[in-house]
Amino acid sequence: MNIRIFHHHDTQEIMQLFYDTVHNINIRDYTQEQVDAWAPQDMDEQRWNQNLHAKMTYVAEIDRKIVGFAQLETNGHIDCFYCHKDFQGMGVGSKLLESIETKAKELGINRLFTEASITAKGFFERKGFQVIKQQEVELRGIKFINYCMDREI
Ligand SMILES: CC(C)(COP(=O)(O)OP(=O)(O)OC[C@H]1O[C@@H](n2cnc3c(N)ncnc32)[C@H](O)[C@@H]1OP(=O)(O)O)[C@@H](O)C(=O)NCCC(=O)NCCS
Repeated sequence: MNIRIFHHHDTQEIMQLFYDTVHNINIRDYTQEQVDAWAPQDMDEQRWNQNLHAKMTYVAEIDRKIVGFAQLETNGHIDCFYCHKDFQGMGVGSKLLESIETKAKELGINRLFTEASITAKGFFERKGFQVIKQQEVELRGIKFINYCMDREI
């Protein structure tokens, strides 16, 4: 497995991974209505491309296939963090988090924080993050539960 920085030609593959993971993995913890709002069919490729460029986006690949992506911001915020639906529980998330931690330390960041889905909460706990609070957020008019979590590094 190789971890590298995002290239603009990755956008479509990342969008497909995101859609498939939300609809096949997160659906275990959220309703159909929620996953449809979270990952709609008509996602805007240009907006995705801008977002993927705007943050430090790391891509995990195996034999040139993208199997995960994760984003770090300069304040320590971890934004998107998704592994491919067919590559769950294989260490992809661990590798992505390692890269994020290494970069964060380089940048002098001493705290990582994220809003973890119900699905990802156990992963982040396993990695030493703690829950600050459970919260309800709204996306495209639909309410979701997630967890504000953080970890000193
Ligand atoms: C959460 C996610 C990124 C984890 O990635 P992953 O590649 O499956 O995780 P890893 O295989 O590296 O697992 C690392 C460790 O965490 C544990 N773990 C992973 N997911 C877990 C979970 N939901 N609950 C408890 N432990 C979990 C693994 O068992 C493993 O433990 P080990 O160190 O004892 O072997 C992945 O499951 C995912 O894509 N989830 C759906 C998308 C999502 O909700 N993303 C967050 C958006 S906010």
